[in-house]
Amino acid sequence: MLIAFANSKGGVGKSTLAVHLAVWLHDHGNRVALLDTDKQRSSSAWAVEAEPKLTVRTAGTHEEVASSVQELAEKHEFIVADAPGGLEELSRTVLILADLAFFPVLPSILDLRSVAEATKLLKFAQSINGGRPEGRLILNRLRKRDRISRELTEAAPALGLTVARTTIRDLQAYRNAAQQGTVVTRMGARERDAAAELTQLFVELMTEKLVFVERDQDASDHVSEIGIGEGRLNGKASLAK
Ligand SMILES: Nc1ncnc2c1ncn2[C@@H]1O[C@H](COP(=O)(O)OP(=O)(O)OP(=O)(O)O)[C@@H](O)[C@H]1O
Ligand SMILES: [Mg+2]
Repeated sequence: MLIAFANSKGGVGKSTLAVHLAVWLHDHGNRVALLDTDKQRSSSAWAVEAEPKLTVRTAGTHEEVASSVQELAEKHEFIVADAPGGLEELSRTVLILADLAFFPVLPSILDLRSVAEATKLLKFAQSINGGRPEGRLILNRLRKRDRISRELTEAAPALGLTVARTTIRDLQAYRNAAQQGTVVTRMGARERDAAAELTQLFVELMTEKLVFVERDQDASDHVSEIGIGEGRLNGKASLAK
């Protein structure tokens, strides 16, 4: 399954969320690859440092993206792709190949415009790829008392893209994680708040992609007990088709 993080605008959290999702899926026992298609190579450098067991690849052309996805799909349950900022052609290629497309957006007027562009790009990919990828907007760097945050949260559903219910706050934890070459979900009690909201987001985004064929009798729905990936929770969970 190819999961793409994209947005026509830079600096919205694509790399941050891509690296966090890749490590999180790895930590739930999946074979995960991170495919960095951005010339800045920030997510690949970060991912290598955060988790040496992740497969990390870079791709700079349409052909490289296509061949990497094909090759990585053979040995990994999940490929997380970080698309470049800007409406670069490479983003289109990544989106056309993707099963899921996540568009992080910031609470700003400019970002409302980028949502319209994201919608256009998503519809284009879906028209080529038989309705795929499924798209979600992720509201990132929200501040509680920020009026535009509230307005964006309220306006987003009308913009034509489904919005993730879980929103991500503007927290120093994410910048600390990048600086330390790790992820907030591995930073313990210090970054508990960030880890909790991010876990909630990933569970929301990913569990609907999974079918639990069998579960422990006493397994509750608590997030820490949810297994993600094909046969990765003692062989009890499998990927939805
Ligand atoms: N929720 C958050 N709270 C605080 N800082 C954040 C959050 N998400 C991202 N950041 C910070 O915002 C900056 C931009 O994030 P990131 O590099 O992930 O964006 P990007 O979309 O990949 O950018 P680019 O288009 O340049 O590749 C980084 O400094 C990152 O640490
Ligand atoms: Mg980036």
